[in-house]
Amino acid sequence: MKGKILVIDDEKLKRLTLKSQLEDDGYDVNIGENAFVGLKHLNKSTFDVVITDLRMPSMDGLTFLKEIKKLSSETEVIMMTAYGTVENAVEAMKEGAYDYITKPFAYDELSIKLNRLMQHQKGKVEIKALQKKIQSQYRYQNLIGRSKAMQTIFDKADIVADSDTTILIQGETGTGKEVMANALHYNSHRKARPFIKLSCAILNRELLESELFGHERGAFTGALRRKSGRFELADKGTIFLDEVDDIPLDLQVKLLRVIQERIFERVGGEESFNVDVRVICATKKDLKQMVSEGKFREDLYYRLNVVKIELPPLRERHEDIPLLVKHFLEKFSKVKNKSAKHFSPESQKVLLTHNWPGNVRELENVVEHAVTLCKSDHIDVDDMPDYLQEVSTPEGLFALDARGEKPINLSQAISDLENRLICWALKEAQGNQVKAAELLNIPRTTLRDKLARTKGESENHSNM
Ligand SMILES: Nc1ncnc2c1ncn2[C@@H]1O[C@H](COP(=O)(O)OP(=O)(O)OP(=O)(O)O)[C@@H](O)[C@H]1O
Ligand SMILES: [Mg+2]
Repeated sequence: MKGKILVIDDEKLKRLTLKSQLEDDGYDVNIGENAFVGLKHLNKSTFDVVITDLRMPSMDGLTFLKEIKKLSSETEVIMMTAYGTVENAVEAMKEGAYDYITKPFAYDELSIKLNRLMQHQKGKVEIKALQKKIQSQYRYQNLIGRSKAMQTIFDKADIVADSDTTILIQGETGTGKEVMANALHYNSHRKARPFIKLSCAILNRELLESELFGHERGAFTGALRRKSGRFELADKGTIFLDEVDDIPLDLQVKLLRVIQERIFERVGGEESFNVDVRVICATKKDLKQMVSEGKFREDLYYRLNVVKIELPPLRERHEDIPLLVKHFLEKFSKVKNKSAKHFSPESQKVLLTHNWPGNVRELENVVEHAVTLCKSDHIDVDDMPDYLQEVSTPEGLFALDARGEKPINLSQAISDLENRLICWALKEAQGNQVKAAELLNIPRTTLRDKLARTKGESENHSNM
């Protein structure tokens, strides 16, 4: 089917003829004798095109056009005008009609217009799909990810962001826990209210308690004046408790109470405070494991873990690397006023094969380092931090990363190993492909194909 068309003409013979011509041409066609019948059709289904008489009894074509656009702005309209009423047709086009055709006309003339219009419709759909794809990759402003894992996380975040549900974000260092917490707050109805962050790791017990709940004057030595805690400051907004696993067991009881009842007292105080706070926590640790080891309260764990967002390590979502690299490349080129536009194929290999223990933060640092050092519009292996270039023995390359998820993905592991070996050879050969191919004992053309494939893969994702 080429498209769905609605024909409105008060002359029965004309509309029936047009219907059969259009159907022969491959369109799906409905017809009607006036605008009211037309609107009934339009209420029931969506049409790509409406071909309508401009002059009709009851409702004229211009009013009909406005009604069509109200119902479906995507539907295009072609006006049929009688000889001598072209001014009206021009006015209709100003109102948003796509084209007009003067009666009587040969079907071919209409067919050409329709072909062009369908092309235009297709273009619109493609642009929309593209925009949607780009938007979904850059959802939540600062969080980027095209991998299935990240898209699933974005979907989940979409659902829970604008609720008061407590959320636990788990992930290795640098996976984006804080950016995610920010995103959740700024996509909630609390976005105009405070977003208060506290890292529970850096504080000793007393200080942590006072930071969380505040203290009264004289509550402890050095408490010279009354101080509000973070829960108080976060009233009506969101509190983000980072490294929540570091809260001592006895303080966990107090935290549990505030999460359950939204009530607390300042240290050294009698008065109870009620707060309306949304709680988001983050941890690098496996809290469940800590519960089984008696290091974290089970009841608190269940209170915090109402919804869990687990951010996967970067090594498990290689597809995200090119997009992240592109993002950071643009960011640092702009900040540092550099013209760095892409990574050379060899340096792309390094990026795609590195294990990224520091995850996205490490990748961001590497790109910043490379942009700072690079001398032209492309980045070479030499511009990257030394430690990334130090893959000197092939033996080390065979070590399997035991930190990864089990079971191991065999084909992925083999392709990673191949990439690492190629990288090693290229570095040994200082970028000389003939020498690198010799080191790998493969024909140079094979090496070139393999490099082209990696480049193709990364270009498929986006330009690095
Ligand atoms: N998906 C992402 N898209 C874009 N930037 C990201 C993404 N994930 C992380 N980053 C960037 O990586 C850096 C580290 O992110 P963040 O501080 O949120 O990590 P974290 O998980 O809180 O790390 P840590 O556990 O060490 O505190 C930030 O500069 C952040 O902007
Ligand atoms: Mg963090």
